[in-house]
Amino acid sequence: MGQIVTITSGKGGVGKSTTTANLSAALALLGKKVVAVDFDIGLRNLDMILGLENRIVYDIVDVMEGNCNLAQAIIKDKRTPNLHFIPASQTKDKNVLDKQKVEKVLSDLKKEFDYVLIDSPAGIESGFEHSIFLADRTIIVTTPEISAVRDADRVIGIIDAKSQKAINGEEVEKHIIINRLKPELVEKRDMLNVDDVLHILSLPLIGVVPDTEDIVSSTNVGEPIVYNPKSLAGEAFRRIARRIEGEDVPLLEIKANNGIFAKIKGLFK
Ligand SMILES: Nc1ncnc2c1ncn2[C@@H]1O[C@H](COP(=O)(O)OP(=O)(O)OP(=O)(O)O)[C@@H](O)[C@H]1O
Ligand SMILES: [Mg+2]
Repeated sequence: MGQIVTITSGKGGVGKSTTTANLSAALALLGKKVVAVDFDIGLRNLDMILGLENRIVYDIVDVMEGNCNLAQAIIKDKRTPNLHFIPASQTKDKNVLDKQKVEKVLSDLKKEFDYVLIDSPAGIESGFEHSIFLADRTIIVTTPEISAVRDADRVIGIIDAKSQKAINGEEVEKHIIINRLKPELVEKRDMLNVDDVLHILSLPLIGVVPDTEDIVSSTNVGEPIVYNPKSLAGEAFRRIARRIEGEDVPLLEIKANNGIFAKIKGLFK
């Protein structure tokens, strides 16, 4: 049996889809059989980041409504053979997900894949509860901003109250990713640092991802940043994947001069 890992957040736009795409690819590169499932109904995003938007025929709602079988909706990645993807539906009705149908699809996927990564809508959207209900573990993404951290804290409360594991009296594993850290701003105390965020959320940290420009270009070309061996953000995601696998890899150190150094190196390429 594989595990369901839900990537979620309180506030929107903090990097859930970017994280889902990169961790899925990184886990597949480690040899795991992975499926990334887009649960953000109405707002397809993950397909673009994975560069698979042109391959979409069926989506998750088609499976649930019996318009196709599960295998027909699973898209194989172009680069990494053990990476797979199921797109979200673009329907305007965000309430199309039905609890029992979601359960059936996810339990079928769990039988076939080592990891089922769910890209969840932000905690305020409908569909959020479906995406956390069956999670074996959750990764809460936040940026180092007070509003995002507060919303993350609220979502942690919902996970602890409404997930199936919580209902059964078990604990859902929860980890924090701090995304878009800007070391120059942290040094000037213009941005919360890692300790500030963890002090508020009091959950274990699984990774810190720097804010880097190469993420934007990687999304534009549909190639997750983990395929770029030179990217600092790519390295951060690769390390998080290994930590998910239980390896004891140290966190990436993100120092202000890393950025300057990278820029100087870029000049002499
Ligand atoms: N580490 C990073 N450095 C720079 N840009 C980033 C980083 N992470 C995410 N972004 C950018 O931030 C934007 C939002 O990211 P993303 O779509 O992954 O967020 P999301 O949480 O899935 O949003 P939504 O709540 O709308 O689904 C995108 O333009 C993405 O390229
Ligand atoms: Mg998203």
